[in-house]
Amino acid sequence: MLRDSFGRVATDLRVSLTDKCNLRCTYCMPPEGLDWLPNAQLLTADEIVRLVTIGVERLGITEVRYTGGEPLLRRELVDIVQRTTALEPRPQVSITSNGIGLAKLAVPLKEAGLDRVNVSLDTLDRDTFKRLAHRDRFEDVIDGLAAAHEAGLRPVKVNAVLMRGINEAEASALLRFCLDKAYELRFIEQMPLDAQHGWSRADMVTADEILALLSADFDLAPDDTEERGSAPAERFTVDGGPGRVGVIGSVTRPFCGACDRVRLTADGQVRNCLFATEESDLKAAMRAGASDDELAERWVVAVKGKRAGHGIDDPSFLQPARPMSAIGG
Ligand code: 5AD
Ligand code: SF4
Repeated sequence: MLRDSFGRVATDLRVSLTDKCNLRCTYCMPPEGLDWLPNAQLLTADEIVRLVTIGVERLGITEVRYTGGEPLLRRELVDIVQRTTALEPRPQVSITSNGIGLAKLAVPLKEAGLDRVNVSLDTLDRDTFKRLAHRDRFEDVIDGLAAAHEAGLRPVKVNAVLMRGINEAEASALLRFCLDKAYELRFIEQMPLDAQHGWSRADMVTADEILALLSADFDLAPDDTEERGSAPAERFTVDGGPGRVGVIGSVTRPFCGACDRVRLTADGQVRNCLFATEESDLKAAMRAGASDDELAERWVVAVKGKRAGHGIDDPSFLQPARPMSAIGG
């Protein structure tokens, strides 16, 4: 098992398939993009499946989420998903995507066994989308969401990040849209993970503010039908239900104590936290001929060293050198 020194057990593996993306969301990347990892440094599909298999078969991973960058940009995605859902014991398999390309891929992904998708959507306004993501792709995202729902990847989850002066006024409209479409919306507090290091505490729209914005238009009540467990979202029923909304207060309401995640970057580094400053290089070990046992052992050691919390509030907090797109949401 992947148990850290505080007794937390990692069962949820997030794998970044590529650091590339076809959007440039301001909370993630500068408009000009980043220096992408050279292809030779990316794990191959076989290497990814080998590591995921070790995680599932030997280390107690029960959930696998493929992320990016944008995971749909990885040509082998459907194949990787199919090989992952064929593992025993079968893990839950999901992706976090910006939705572009889902219109084409939703059905093949569903057929490959994909269980769920999370799609990022921060605005319902095409111009705001352009301003926020620096690309005119709003319609593609909306089409992708609909295709995922249509293909049975339900409930489609939508992630939204509110930014002051950009889209915070759209909180209620986003919720209304998701309720109408039967998508499950979660708001995520903006975290200091952008490549430009532009995050500031004062600019962040907090969980309290999000709840206040929504409460002006909806009746929210804590949803206690489900144990929160390690789920980062605090869930609320909307207007008596069955509609719901989640708020992920990563910064102001940290859930590190219940964290069950571990991450694998597109270049094969284990990260025990989004905010980790150290990584463990499984790719180098693998390419030097390490056995499955050796790789599993390295992974166990990497998780053992997980810190108690992200410490964003500590004066000594340092933003990780890698941006979100290279770590994987
Ligand atoms: N803070 C919060 N959420 C972020 N995401 C990307 N960067 C940040 C950030 N700095 C979200 C995206 C996507 C998921 C991968 O993480 O909106 O939904
Ligand atoms: Fe791309 Fe996601 Fe980053 Fe937006 S947040 S630029 S969609 S990787």
